[in-house]
Amino acid sequence: MKHLLTPQDFTVEELEKLFLLADDMEAHPTKYAHACEGKKLATLFFEPSTRTRLSHETAMLNLGGSVIGFPSGGVSSASKGESVADTIRVISCFADIAAIRHPKEGAAAVAAQYSGIPVINAGDGGHQHPTQTLLDLQTIRRLKGGLEHMTIGLCGDLKFGRTVHSLVSAMARYEGIRFVFISPDELRMPDYVSDMLRDRNIPFEEVTRLEDAIPQLDILYMTRVQKERFFNEEDYIRLKDFYILDKRKLSAARPDCYILHPLPRVGEIAPEIDDDPRAAYFLQVRYGVLVRMAAILTLLGLAPD
Ligand code: NCD
Repeated sequence: MKHLLTPQDFTVEELEKLFLLADDMEAHPTKYAHACEGKKLATLFFEPSTRTRLSHETAMLNLGGSVIGFPSGGVSSASKGESVADTIRVISCFADIAAIRHPKEGAAAVAAQYSGIPVINAGDGGHQHPTQTLLDLQTIRRLKGGLEHMTIGLCGDLKFGRTVHSLVSAMARYEGIRFVFISPDELRMPDYVSDMLRDRNIPFEEVTRLEDAIPQLDILYMTRVQKERFFNEEDYIRLKDFYILDKRKLSAARPDCYILHPLPRVGEIAPEIDDDPRAAYFLQVRYGVLVRMAAILTLLGLAPD
């Protein structure tokens, strides 16, 4: 049984197959409208979410399946002290596949150990968020015509932002990738990510000023400062507005430097950028449903060859 806990759970070849499937689903939606008939997705969300939960649910509904689940730990038996292991054992009796989001790093991996059904990690604390990476890659692939030979800038909270950890580990497997990590010192990329890049001789630099990095980028991935992972509010308040991408800063970017953001944005992208043809963050949301449809079908073993 296959789970999706980190982007590495799919090889580069498997990912390409998944993206081609998502392309086909976009072109021929009716072909897949009954592909998951009789199947159920459980969304187990112990942490707030708008996009990720509803995108998984939309994906399953588009495939003709149905959904059950809960949107917060507070309304589940977790509030009575039930363990993730017991919750997933129970859910395995109800559903065919589960997407789980949890504030603790490693929670989805624990769930997978006890699960009788495929588990999708929909975000585990500050660790990983692999389905976000699938849609980030699909967006880059579609806008740039591929995933090789580019410089990717990641800006903001690189310490707690799980989407950037997953994106870097996935992009590191493609030819000719360079990273520029743009963050305040306190929010630098964790060592386990930088060490992985060093071990594999993948070039990266770390800078503090967004202005210094912008002109060289093919992709600029902005992120929110992850308020919920801070130990004290003063640090959050001091760092939250460290980066604000506005028209003036964007004017130094290449004409084909696309701006991505996993959303929700708080203040780090000025709304005046939304009409710029390089703003791709709402397009990401569209691709999110399609890649999740492809992932669900693949994990259920129902994807066409
Ligand atoms: C992200 C997350 O939950 O990690 N949101 C999302 O799933 N699109 C990013 C964030 O919350 O900042």
